[in-house]
Amino acid sequence: MISRPKGTEDRLPAETGKWLRVERVLRDVSERFNYREIRTPIFEHTELFTRTVGETTDIVEKEMYTFKDRAGRSLTLRPEGTAPVGRAYIENRLYSGPQPVKVYYIGPMFRYEKPQAGRYREFVQYGAELLGSSSPLCDAEVIFLAVEICNTLGLTETTLHLNSIGCPGCREGYRKALTEYLGARESDLCDDCRRRVGRNPLRVLDCKNETCRAILAEAPSMLDYLCTGCKEHFETLGKILTGMGMSYRIDPSLVRGLDYYTRTVFEVKWPPLGAQDAILGGGRYDGLVEALGGPSVPGVGFAVGLERLLMAVEKGKNPPQGWDRLDCFVCYVDDALAYRALEIANRLRAAGVSADFDQLGRSLKAQMKQASRYEARHAIILGPEETARGVATVRSMDEGWQREVPLSEIEKEIVSLTRAGGR
Ligand code: HAM
Repeated sequence: MISRPKGTEDRLPAETGKWLRVERVLRDVSERFNYREIRTPIFEHTELFTRTVGETTDIVEKEMYTFKDRAGRSLTLRPEGTAPVGRAYIENRLYSGPQPVKVYYIGPMFRYEKPQAGRYREFVQYGAELLGSSSPLCDAEVIFLAVEICNTLGLTETTLHLNSIGCPGCREGYRKALTEYLGARESDLCDDCRRRVGRNPLRVLDCKNETCRAILAEAPSMLDYLCTGCKEHFETLGKILTGMGMSYRIDPSLVRGLDYYTRTVFEVKWPPLGAQDAILGGGRYDGLVEALGGPSVPGVGFAVGLERLLMAVEKGKNPPQGWDRLDCFVCYVDDALAYRALEIANRLRAAGVSADFDQLGRSLKAQMKQASRYEARHAIILGPEETARGVATVRSMDEGWQREVPLSEIEKEIVSLTRAGGR
C-alpha cells in the first residue's frame, strides 16, 4: 500500500465541514476589514525565498522543498506567503494603483519540519498583508484583524506578544552588542547557536535549548538600541493598542524565524496548544519589496496555520457550536414517498438551507438515526395519511417538539426555524 507522505494529512468528509466553516470566518472577517483575496502560485523561483526569508534562517537552510524542473530551473514549493505577495505586488505593478493594497490568502505551504502536533510538512496558511503604508495604524489594524479572527472563533484567552526588532540602521548596533555578549559565552551555546553567532546572531534569540535560553535571559535587549524613528513607531503602536483596550505583552526575545521583518513583530499565543503555542505570527517588512527589485514600499501582515487554529478552536472553552450540522433531514414512512422526500429536499436546498433525505430505503427508525448522525436541526416526516391531507410533520431534533406544517409552506417554515436557531 502506498501511504501519504510524512507530515501530510488527508482531510476526510467528516472534517472538511469544519475547515470550510473556519475558511468562511476567515473570508468574512477579512472582507469586513476590506482585504481582498490574492492567489499566487504554489511554487516560485527559489531565489524569491532566499532573498527575503533569508539564507541563514531555518526555513531556507533546512526546510524548503526545492527541486530542479526539467529545464534545470531551481523552484521551491512556497514555505510562506509574504514573499510571493511582495513579488506579485511588483510584477503586477500594484504599487501604481491605489494604496494601500490589502490582500489575504488561504492555501497550502510546505516546510520540511519534524512533524508533531500542530506542525506539518504541508499545512494551510491564512495570511493578510497590507502594502503601501508605514503608519503604526496599519500595524494596529493587522493586529486587530488577527485578534478579531481568534475572537470570532471563540478563542478569547489568547495573549498578544509584541516586540520591535528595529530597522537595518539600529539593528547593526544591537547585532554588535549581541555578538559580543554571545561570543563571550560561545562555548556554552548549543551547536546550532554557535554557528549562528557569526552568521545571524538574532536567530539565537529564537533558540529553544534550555542552556541557550538561560544565557539569553541576561542578553542585551533590542528595545534599548532602537533609533528615534523605530522607538516612536513602537511607542505609538503601543498607545493605539492600549487606547483600543487591547492588552499585550512586550517580549524582547520575540524575533520570529524570518529575516525580512523590520520594526514591529508579534505573535498571538494560546498556551494550551503546548510546544506549538504560537497560533499566528507576523510583523512589518519595510524592506521586502525593495529587496525584490521593486520600489521602496513598506508592508505589514501576519499568517496563521489553519491546523493550529482548528486545534485551538476545538480545545477552547467556547468552540462554536453546530458548525457541521445539517439543517433538515427529510424522512418518509413508505417507499412510495421517496420521490416526495427528494422533491422537498430540493425545495429546501433551493431556499438556502442544507437538506438531505434517505437514499437507501431504510426504516423510519433508521432514518431518524441517520438524521441524528448528521446532527440535523430539524427532521420532516412524510406519512401517507398526512401527505394526502397536504401536511408533513416537522420535528425539532434538539427540543423534541413536533407539529404539522402545510406542505406548501414547508420551505418557509424550515428557513425561518433555521434562521431563528442561528447557523
Ligand atoms: P510563520 O510564523 O513562519 O510566519 O508562520 C505563521 C503561522 O503559520 C504560524 O504561527 C503557524 O500557525 C503556521 N505554521 C508555520 N509552520 C507550520 C507548520 N510546519 N505546520 C503547521 N503550521 C505552521 C510566516 O509564515 C509569515 N509569512 C507571516 C507573515 C505574514 N508575516 C508578515 N506577513
